Amino acid sequence: MKKREFVVGLDIGTTKICAMVGRQDANGEVEITGVGVTPSKGLRKGVVVNLESTIDSIERAIEEAEASAGLEVSQVFTGIAGGHIKSLNSRGVVVISRGSREIARKDMERVIDAAKAIAIPLDREVIHAIPQEFIVDDQGGVKNPLGMSATRLEAEVHIVTGAVTSAQNIIKSINRAGFEVEDIVLGPLASGEAVLTAEEKRSGVILIDMGGGTTDIVIFVKGSIRHSEVLALGGDHVTHDIAIGLRTPALRAEEVKKAYGCALPSLIRREESVDYPGVEGRRGGKISRTQLSEIIEPRIEELLILVNTEVERSGLSHLISAGVVLTGGASLLEGLPEMAERIFGLPVRMGRPGGGTKGLERIGDSPIYATGVGLVHYGLAYRQGKRMAHFKGRNLFSQVALRMKEWFGEFF
Ligand SMILES: Nc1ncnc2c1ncn2[C@@H]1O[C@H](COP(=O)(O)OP(=O)(O)OP(=O)(O)O)[C@@H](O)[C@H]1O
Ligand SMILES: [Mg+2]
Repeated sequence: MKKREFVVGLDIGTTKICAMVGRQDANGEVEITGVGVTPSKGLRKGVVVNLESTIDSIERAIEEAEASAGLEVSQVFTGIAGGHIKSLNSRGVVVISRGSREIARKDMERVIDAAKAIAIPLDREVIHAIPQEFIVDDQGGVKNPLGMSATRLEAEVHIVTGAVTSAQNIIKSINRAGFEVEDIVLGPLASGEAVLTAEEKRSGVILIDMGGGTTDIVIFVKGSIRHSEVLALGGDHVTHDIAIGLRTPALRAEEVKKAYGCALPSLIRREESVDYPGVEGRRGGKISRTQLSEIIEPRIEELLILVNTEVERSGLSHLISAGVVLTGGASLLEGLPEMAERIFGLPVRMGRPGGGTKGLERIGDSPIYATGVGLVHYGLAYRQGKRMAHFKGRNLFSQVALRMKEWFGEFF
């Protein structure tokens, strides 16, 4: 077995930690050959708050993935999320002054660097600098200017920054578990690799990854990422509301939500009553699905309205032809797609990673695996040189050998 053939995606989520081993088969299709999933206890809202328990879960998830894939893991591609993530679009300009005036790879790197030369506070670092389009002597919309003749090259670049300490704690946890980080990727960008089609990205699409602790948004237009955002709200907040509303332990509230929860009371076709225990020996009770749904509805509505406000703020609403794709575990809530359609006024579909990936039969084609599977897709593309990276960390990131990336999207 050739080891370089395999890549490992490690999704460190608020609810679960998931390691996926995968490779590309002879037909170029991505195949998952090993999986390990453990509950995550050391994160809050997408951010590591307890190192020891995170390290422990990482070890167990990777061990399990190693056993099922039948190989040893040394390096992983991992994701980053959390409310500290911020993104913006920036433009860079450079002059092509050499004799031939031919655009070289170096010029493309230079122009991305120029776009990156914005004021970034010392406690933040660039996680991605992804070119959306190049402008070659005023000619816009160029995806790959390599080799073109020009006197001036400009680039529109999507820049994602994150808190240095948050990234460091992710890297530290992985290192202490005994593994190296090959690259670190914005979580929802990885999810997008697994659940979005190239056609959707071209037509304009909003991806919403609803996890336990965070809801992540990315918007693609004309094949490029144009907006990204991480909100510190997720499915756990719904569970919390149920636990408070019913005065029942969180564990039972979670079970009740998954088995009987619905985002819209009007969609409940089969009324049922659900038993629940009280907290610490107190009397429990019974609730109807409709009453349960009345607890859930306002929280989900609030969350989706927040997402919609973000989308409107991005100024990209009018460019979304392919609608909304929902992924992440919280998107499994019954009635959520219907509510999302109502709030966004756009067609909504569920994003499951099994569409473009083989080997998920054993664990099931669930949206909770979108990020893990997407990290494998990203890793494979990166190894093939389709995702560029190089060491030039500006500050603290370089000490942990994090690579800063230039993302050349689909065009290499
Ligand atoms: N069938 C279901 N119905 C409703 N909610 C569900 C269902 N299955 C899972 N969830 C919810 O999905 C959430 C976990 O999703 P996911 O595994 O995508 O999160 P995560 O990646 O661990 O967290 P994050 O991305 O926020 O760090 C939990 O809040 C859980 O209650
Ligand atoms: Mg997640």
